[in-house]
Amino acid sequence: MNYLSPSILSADFSKLGEQLRIMDEAGAEYVHIDVMDGAFVPSISFGMPLIRSIRPCTGKVFDVHLMVEEPVRYIQEFADCGADIITVHAEACAHLDRTVEAIRERGVRPAVALNPATSLNVLEYILPKLDMVLLMTVNPGFGGQKFIPYSLEKIRRLKDIIEEKGLNTDIEVDGGVTLSNVEEVLQAGANVIVSGSAVFRGDISENVRKFKELMK
Ligand code: DX5
Ligand code: ZN
Repeated sequence: MNYLSPSILSADFSKLGEQLRIMDEAGAEYVHIDVMDGAFVPSISFGMPLIRSIRPCTGKVFDVHLMVEEPVRYIQEFADCGADIITVHAEACAHLDRTVEAIRERGVRPAVALNPATSLNVLEYILPKLDMVLLMTVNPGFGGQKFIPYSLEKIRRLKDIIEEKGLNTDIEVDGGVTLSNVEEVLQAGANVIVSGSAVFRGDISENVRKFKELMK
C-alpha cells in the first residue's frame, strides 16, 4: 500500500486548518509535520503547540519528522500532542535504540531518518524495531530543494535489505519529490511519499489527486 504524506512546511499557515481539510478530502493518508530546532538543521519551524491545535482538524495519520538534536528529550510531549508516527534522525541520537524504545513505549510508531550521505549500515541492528525508515533525498532544513539523484540507488538497496530480512518496514522518501519523479521513486521501492512544494504550490486538491493517481 502506498501513502501520500503532504508536508505542511509548504502550507499557508494563515489557512492551515482549511488546507488540512482540502488535503484530507482529496485523499492524502498522512500529514507530514517537519519540526526543526535550528541546531540539527539551520531553520526553526514549529513545535508542539501547533501540532496540538491542528490535531482536531483531521483524523489522518500525523507523521512527525523531528529534525532535532537528541529528540529523546521530547518524545513524551510529541506523543501527547497527537503524533501517530515519530521519526528521529540517526545522526541526532547518541542512543538510538533507547530513543526508538521510548517512542514504542508511548504507543507511537517509531521511524528512523537518514540524511542523504548517511550509510544504510547504521540501520543494521535497529531495523527490526522500526515501522518505517525515512530516506532524506535532499539535505534537510528547507522545502523546495532538488531531489539528489544518487538517492534512487539507496532506496533500491534499502528495499533489498528489508526483503532479505523478511521484514515489511515502510520506506518513506522526503525531499524534492514531484509529479515528474514520483513514479521512479515508487519503482525504486518507496511506499510513503512526502511532498511539500509539489502539493501546496497551486491547487492543493488537484495536486493530491494527481499524486494519488500516479501512486495507485
Ligand atoms: C526538508 C523536510 C521536507 C520538506 C519537503 O527538510 O523534511 O519534508 O518539507 O519539501 P519538498 O517536497 O518541497 O522538497
Ligand atoms: Zn520531512
